[in-house]
Amino acid sequence: MTTSSQPSTKPAVLIIDDEVGPRDALKVVLGPFCTIHCAENARMALELLKTQSIDLITLDLKLPDRPGLNLLQEIKLKYPEIEVVIVTGYGSLKSAMEGIRHAAAGYLLKPFNTHELTTLIQQTFEKKRRLDFLRKYLRDSPEQGTHAWHTLQAKYRSLCPNSDPAAAILSQDDMGLLPLLSDILEATDRQLLNHSSRVSFYATLMAARLHLSLADQKILALGAFLHDIGKTSLPHYRFSDDQVLPSREPVLCREHLGKGARMIESLGLPAEVGQIIAAHHERWDGQGYPHGLQGTEIPLLARIVGMAQLFDHLTADAPGRSPLSVEQAIQQIANPSPMQFDPQLLELFIDVVKESTASISTMVAVPAA
Ligand SMILES: [Fe+2]
Repeated sequence: MTTSSQPSTKPAVLIIDDEVGPRDALKVVLGPFCTIHCAENARMALELLKTQSIDLITLDLKLPDRPGLNLLQEIKLKYPEIEVVIVTGYGSLKSAMEGIRHAAAGYLLKPFNTHELTTLIQQTFEKKRRLDFLRKYLRDSPEQGTHAWHTLQAKYRSLCPNSDPAAAILSQDDMGLLPLLSDILEATDRQLLNHSSRVSFYATLMAARLHLSLADQKILALGAFLHDIGKTSLPHYRFSDDQVLPSREPVLCREHLGKGARMIESLGLPAEVGQIIAAHHERWDGQGYPHGLQGTEIPLLARIVGMAQLFDHLTADAPGRSPLSVEQAIQQIANPSPMQFDPQLLELFIDVVKESTASISTMVAVPAA
């Protein structure tokens, strides 16, 4: 059970740690501004979550009955709206990073610094307030016009304190909508945000290789990041259930193209970004959707995003999925039958991916608490 944390009520924290020392230290620091619950092991924690509304969990990665990372995955699958902060011993940095990949909001190394702990927890609460607000907004009013977006932006701004890094970006004309759109993706599903970030990363690599103009590079990066923004208005969308191939995508999912393009129009973003969103499921052979465009009828930038998003769907290592290795995924997209992608772009994309394998395997959206 999760709860929307209101600024005026004390948020509920569950400390999961088998050692009494760190547990008590966390209680002392967080007690004055949180309602504290404790669990010594994974079993107790899961039992407690069935009956208590929890906003945030501090999770030790070494538990007596189960690996903490394994518990994290179950918690995020059952209670995606609960934020989890990993608090772990020295030497566990690698697993802490793995935790971030599995949607933890952040991590701290033991013995923790009190100031760092309170700062991270406060930032995570602030972020949860924004995400809870957006989840409610998306549930109650999944598709809105320009006026509603302006109202949403104003309310969202009021939830971003001046100290928040998002506040500085919000004041920029150009990319001012990015924190809001990024939070909308995350409020829907953290894995959808990770997918969007990786697709934008691949697209950016392609843009550099194709020597696109700076203006086009910016449009491409934004269009790639927002290519699935329409999925945020689909009820109960989960990245783990998302189908890979256009021919297997549920009919409802196909609606994300139109919904996304309309969203971009309402927000006043460049029309070319909307074109990328609307056409990223078209295929070179004309077998795609929604319009069955063929070859160069499909805008160049949408062709790039189409390849990048399929590659990422095949390789995404997210809960509930069985990812292919980079080599297997290359093999699959390199043998489309009949031809799915622009052959020249495909050749280039494979080169780019092969050269970037090391960074690709660790790519996740860095939590911006
Ligand atoms: Fe899509």
